[in-house]
Amino acid sequence: MQRFEGRVAVITGAGSGIGRATALRLAEEGASVVAVDLDQAAGERVAKESGGLFVAADVTDEAAVERVYAEVKAVYGRIDVAFNNAGISPPEDDSILETGLDAWRRVQEVNLTSVYLCCRHVLPYMREQGGGPSSTPRRSWPPWAPPPPRSPTPPARAGCSR
Ligand SMILES: NC(=O)c1ccc[n+]([C@@H]2O[C@H](COP(=O)([O-])OP(=O)(O)OC[C@H]3O[C@@H](n4cnc5c(N)ncnc54)[C@H](O)[C@@H]3O)[C@@H](O)[C@H]2O)c1
Repeated sequence: MQRFEGRVAVITGAGSGIGRATALRLAEEGASVVAVDLDQAAGERVAKESGGLFVAADVTDEAAVERVYAEVKAVYGRIDVAFNNAGISPPEDDSILETGLDAWRRVQEVNLTSVYLCCRHVLPYMREQGGGPSSTPRRSWPPWAPPPPRSPTPPARAGCSR
């Protein structure tokens, strides 16, 4: 069944892992996929695999995020799905006693502020076209699983859940 036929899906962090798997699955379901990543080689590979478009962007850069959705709108004329998936879990994201302020700030920027930026810049397009937006912050840690033993990640995740 082609549940996403005629739909345009923008996936950040599409170059790897969950983003890549989502891009391929949505393409299988008929969506036009836009793979967004700061890793050009990985993003281009996934765009090719999914028959979609690659747009390079660092999701912590507001101007870059704004350009992503403007380009998608210019190419496809609509945006139906925004999967704000890009995120990091660097090795220095550790116990709160070990995590330095730079690592803390970087994780909040990439895992939380980026979600704000993506929602802020995609929702006007979705509202304009009507039909009900689909914008998801990011896959969260399953509620039944114990949280990972890290300090910056849970607050960033909690910020995405409301
Ligand atoms: N893998 C897990 O078990 C798990 C569990 C819970 C939540 N998550 C979250 O799900 C998301 C994806 O996880 P994953 O395991 O697939 O990660 P991954 O590292 O395999 O993929 C993340 C992708 O995001 C891209 N990226 C990183 N920073 C970026 C930036 N500033 N701008 C644009 N692209 C950027 C990377 O280049 C990479 O392609 C992350 O937000 C992660 O925190 C993952």
